[in-house]
Amino acid sequence: MYTGLQHAHSGLAYLVLLGVAISFIAALAGLLGGKTFTDKNRKLGLLGLIPTHLQWVIGLILYFVSPLGLKSASGAAMKDATTRLYVLEHPLMMVLAVILITIGYSKAKRQIGTNQGFKTMTIFYGLGLILILSRIPWNAWLG
Ligand code: HEM
Repeated sequence: MYTGLQHAHSGLAYLVLLGVAISFIAALAGLLGGKTFTDKNRKLGLLGLIPTHLQWVIGLILYFVSPLGLKSASGAAMKDATTRLYVLEHPLMMVLAVILITIGYSKAKRQIGTNQGFKTMTIFYGLGLILILSRIPWNAWLG
């Protein structure tokens, strides 16, 4: 089960980055263009929301089965940058990113028919994207 989840988490990460980036860029374009936020724009937000939620669930299970997750948590692990990333920083920042993206989507959904929906999505998805980019274990993933 561990290897399967590890591969799923690693592969889905591409869709998370792509989906959140597309939602963010589309929202920014709408905001700058002074357009009205429509149901079509809300659906574009789902491109970022859905893979991020799936990834969160897989990540949570991985946290308990991976030797890099909870099993390696200790005082010493906190002193080492790599183990601290997996035990603390990655899970925490990713959960925060999921929360921000979810809030952004939910708020924007209630702003259909205004321009405000684009601003909401740009801010919340943008912050989420920054958090995700800041705490991906890049070396292990692409290295
Ligand atoms: C939603 C955004 C998330 C993204 C984009 C993401 C992305 C990644 C990536 C790219 C890796 C490296 C995979 C590799 O080495 O090939 C990884 C590893 C890992 N992630 Fe996440 N992750 C997310 C959320 C989470 C959450 C919420 C948790 C835990 C609560 C989590 C726990 C882990 C663990 C334990 C590993 C190490 C797995 C192993 O190799 O044993 N992730 N993640």
